[in-house]
Amino acid sequence: MLHLKNIKKMLNNSMEGTNKLRMYEEDTPQYHLYKEMHENQTYDFVVSKRKEYGPCWKTKMTINKALSLLDDYIDPSDPDLDVPNSIHAYQTAERIRRKFPEDKEFQIIGLIHDVGKVLFSFGEPSWAVVGDTYVLGCEFPKTIVYYDTLKGSPEYEKYDKLGLYKPRCGLDNLMISYGHDEYLYNVLKKNRNHFLSDKYLDVIRYHSFYPWHTEGEYSHFMNKKDEDTLKNVLEFNKFDLYSKEDDILIDKHVKSYYEDILNEYFFGELSW
Ligand SMILES: [Fe+2]
Ligand SMILES: [Fe+2]
Repeated sequence: MLHLKNIKKMLNNSMEGTNKLRMYEEDTPQYHLYKEMHENQTYDFVVSKRKEYGPCWKTKMTINKALSLLDDYIDPSDPDLDVPNSIHAYQTAERIRRKFPEDKEFQIIGLIHDVGKVLFSFGEPSWAVVGDTYVLGCEFPKTIVYYDTLKGSPEYEKYDKLGLYKPRCGLDNLMISYGHDEYLYNVLKKNRNHFLSDKYLDVIRYHSFYPWHTEGEYSHFMNKKDEDTLKNVLEFNKFDLYSKEDDILIDKHVKSYYEDILNEYFFGELSW
């Protein structure tokens, strides 16, 4: 069993050097996005989006095609990124490749982790696509970014710490604010024409869950599996976060390397 003290230590180690990144200020595009998110994401909203996207019948396309849609998307929730999300995808994958040149699966996770942002192409507002996630159906921890705007939520102060959940119920049983993490996790879970392991699907599902993985909140809901997921997410997060500072060249050789490994791990079109 991981003790809170150890979790905090892991978090501190993972936060080293993040002081220039993730600075959230008032009256910025990020502030307005989170304000809308906090006013509109409710427990019932999450349930309805999971129901709507659960069967994956919006469209069919290959993973390559989905990745290319991110050429047209700049994440408005991210104070550290002003380039199309596809650049961030290659930067993250390349940073992983430098450290783990043999681990193609991990490189692919870097490449595709944000592909769920194709939700924007179905007309979803950014507050239902991007940004840090948090749990609906229980108290909002004060470490949530722009916490004050949660006072505009119809569910502010509605629940106590456990709310609708049981202790150690497991993260998979929580209704987490809807966005690209949950969407892509569901797509990869429902489509079986790929070779990605469940361990990495969980990394995708929880990579934006900063109040949990970086602030140490919600540990009372964690089960045994979540302890492993936390380690995996923190390991991944270093590449996701710090790659934003990398000045790398994404030329045709880089692109064709990733096209080749995607073809090894995925076959045919996926249902989205
Ligand atoms: Fe993301
Ligand atoms: Fe990312």
